[in-house]
Amino acid sequence: MCGIVGYIGKSNTSEILVDGLKELEYRGYDSAGIAILKSDKIEVYKALGKIVNLEEKVSHNECTLKEDGFSIGIGHTRWATHGKPTELNAHPHLGEYSYVVHNGIIENYKELKDELIEAGHKFVSQTDTEVIVHLFEFYFNQNNDADLSFDLTIKRLEGAYSILLITKSQQNKIFFMKHGSPMAIAKGKNEGEILFASSDAPLIGLASDVVYLEDGVSGVASSSGLTFSTKVSWSTLSNSKQFAQKDGFRFFMEKEIYEQSDVVVDSMMGRLQDDSISFDELDPSLLDGINEIKICACGTSYHAGLTSTYLFERFSKIRCSIEIASEFRYKEPLLTKDTLFVVISQSGETADTLEALKMAKNAGLKTIVVCNVDNSSMTRVADTTILTRAGIEKGVASTKAFSTQAVVLWMMALSFGDIKNNISKEVLKKEIKVLREVPLALKVEDSVHEKCKRLSKRYLHGHGFFFIGRDVFFPLALEGALKLKEISYLHAEGYPAGEMKHGPIALADPELFTIALMPQHLHYDKIKSNVEELSARDSTICAISPLPFDLADDFINTKKTDHYMLEFFEMLIVLQIFSMEITVRLGNDVDMPRNLAKSVTVE
Ligand code: G6P
Repeated sequence: MCGIVGYIGKSNTSEILVDGLKELEYRGYDSAGIAILKSDKIEVYKALGKIVNLEEKVSHNECTLKEDGFSIGIGHTRWATHGKPTELNAHPHLGEYSYVVHNGIIENYKELKDELIEAGHKFVSQTDTEVIVHLFEFYFNQNNDADLSFDLTIKRLEGAYSILLITKSQQNKIFFMKHGSPMAIAKGKNEGEILFASSDAPLIGLASDVVYLEDGVSGVASSSGLTFSTKVSWSTLSNSKQFAQKDGFRFFMEKEIYEQSDVVVDSMMGRLQDDSISFDELDPSLLDGINEIKICACGTSYHAGLTSTYLFERFSKIRCSIEIASEFRYKEPLLTKDTLFVVISQSGETADTLEALKMAKNAGLKTIVVCNVDNSSMTRVADTTILTRAGIEKGVASTKAFSTQAVVLWMMALSFGDIKNNISKEVLKKEIKVLREVPLALKVEDSVHEKCKRLSKRYLHGHGFFFIGRDVFFPLALEGALKLKEISYLHAEGYPAGEMKHGPIALADPELFTIALMPQHLHYDKIKSNVEELSARDSTICAISPLPFDLADDFINTKKTDHYMLEFFEMLIVLQIFSMEITVRLGNDVDMPRNLAKSVTVE
């Protein structure tokens, strides 16, 4: 996540940058900062937390570099992924005479940093971003040509990034590059004005023409205009801020479904090596004396947790169970100190989960929270916090929180197995290879979205849905049913496929819709038999599978992969989009369904 803004023009630069950052605050608010360059002076302001803190600082110091003539500036709002949320780690980052803001990840930052330290550069932050500005100055010190130095710099960067860089050595320019992370550039309404932003929300009202940069495009902006490394196409800017905040998607939920492929990269960043997995936050000695893992969570987080119980036992060989937090609290649970207590929560504020965590803590258990929001109540209570790094989730129906939780928990299961010497190096290496393919599995294919849209009209009138699956596809079935319930208000239940004949199959008739999760690589024949039983009793079957299935009334074809967890994420996308498209047809509010709240802080 993170958001960046930039401005060249004669208006009040600090105000435009801060206002722009407010529009991007939903992308993260661990810290924010701006740098303004005029003539050979640069003023920099940084503040922790929300943009309002930065705004106060800027107005308090009455930003001196404004008024007459052109000034240029860049700004950033941060969702910490690399290095703690501190002022030192806040952007813009400084070299000796240049500043940079960056959204994304520089994957090869460690080797670049070593090289630059060797060359005498001094680093002050723990971020990957700082290498960009030092690399630029490293080249500039050699060739005295800013344009060339910027080109040489971006050629060395690997990963996903959008960058704005200003330097005292070229006082009227902003250098920019987009690769993977979003960037829009607009011509302002006043003469010579140019604006940059991570989405078009900050540009609305200030500009009418915009370029949404394609990957690999770089260039330079100055008071005399813009140059791009390749031909770009301009479009007219929308007038609606709501539309802009959704990056052009119809709903936050849809935007967040599409974002999953990117955010899981953040979830894995810095944690995956070729043959090991490590979490900076996790001291391996935490597992000393641990023989059991107990997980507690609510809602979607519970489903991610349930998924992980299969993975913890499979890969760590540690006994693992999960309970719904509101049940756990009142059952007088037996808590022993050889149990590691793990809570999972998007918000870190859910009252029942928080209380369960406090109970475990008071009983002297070691505790971990897997959470999306740093500095939330749970992160303050737990011994260890592992952040999922999904970025702010706005849709009440949780999507990217689930996929990032599932990825992080799977990594934890593997890492615990390694710490306990319960997993072979070969298996670990193979799983790491598969983890790296998750972003691709989470990419939404147009054909899959279209298919869900088309099918949605068939599934509006019935007496209910059964989502069925086995193993990790059972929690996925629960999550699919929950998504549908939450936003469409249709009755849906998730079931372990093998359990259907113990009661639920009595409901089968053509008006009962079965959504069958049929992965190729996990118990395919078993689930096939279960679906055949339902089909024989006339239930309408929608099969989701990479393999064709003759008895299905409808079929959603997922890509062939070589691992069940990749199938898991492929199917997750289908379930999320399927629910959303049914909801659109029913005319319900996708982002704010009735009766629900994003964060449930009462028991
Ligand atoms: C609410 C939300 C769900 C979420 C659940 C748990 O019910 O609507 O989307 O899964 O709370 O929230 P948490 O923040 O603890 O993951």
